[in-house]
Amino acid sequence: MITAALLFSLPLSDETPMHWAWLFGAIAATLGWSYGLPPWWAPILVLFAPAALLASSLEVSPLVWLAAAVLPWLVFRGVIRDRVPLFLSDRPAIDGLLTLVSDRYPVSVVDLGCGTGGVLLALREARPIARLKGVENAPLTWLLARIRLRDAAVTVRYGSIWEEALDHHDVVYAYLSPAAMPQLWDKASREMRAGSLLVSNSFAIPGIEPDRVLPLDSGFATELYVWTMRGPDAYDAAR
Ligand SMILES: C[S@@+](CC[C@H](N)C(=O)[O-])C[C@H]1O[C@@H](n2cnc3c(N)ncnc32)[C@H](O)[C@@H]1O
Repeated sequence: MITAALLFSLPLSDETPMHWAWLFGAIAATLGWSYGLPPWWAPILVLFAPAALLASSLEVSPLVWLAAAVLPWLVFRGVIRDRVPLFLSDRPAIDGLLTLVSDRYPVSVVDLGCGTGGVLLALREARPIARLKGVENAPLTWLLARIRLRDAAVTVRYGSIWEEALDHHDVVYAYLSPAAMPQLWDKASREMRAGSLLVSNSFAIPGIEPDRVLPLDSGFATELYVWTMRGPDAYDAAR
């Protein structure tokens, strides 16, 4: 509809590049809609081409455009493949996680997609005997976590969460996105030991009831979902 409206409103005899940019934007939005993208994509798709055209008329160094392209990748790399952006666990979520991590035994905890390392720092302080690990694949975010945790005996691995073996962790913490949850469950159910805990901040796993739900008194995160894993054999039998 937007495309049609724009097509008919364009004075095609004296088109300018900006007319075409609006038309491309409208076509992109229409295609996005027909491929089932959520509605909030529409303004982004409509505005992208006109904004790019406008920006190209500004006299700024090409390095600025290079930085504008590279910087988001350095921080938001997780969005590209896994549709997982960077947002951070808040204090209520961390406190909820702490109730699941023993302060008497040296349990092994991994934060899958550890962002800037805030969860690991808090765990390090409250559970000094825990064995902690973070995995992060956005370069700048990983570097920040690494620097923040440089004095602590915490491993912060640069790499993909999908390559992290989960069989030796007692608690696997994930604050990812709805899109990542089915794959996470597939991996966790194949690898995690019986009795270990899978904890997801805010995002449920479709079709898999959690064993516990910890409500969070938080403005952002809603709940911690907790699954007590039954071990790969139990899930293999059910597959
Ligand atoms: C929502 S943030 C959570 C950060 C941190 N765990 C917290 O709770 O504060 C998700 C993080 O996962 C990272 N991420 C997304 N996909 C990833 C992947 N395949 N491998 C490693 N990290 C990933 C993102 O870069 C982002 O930093």
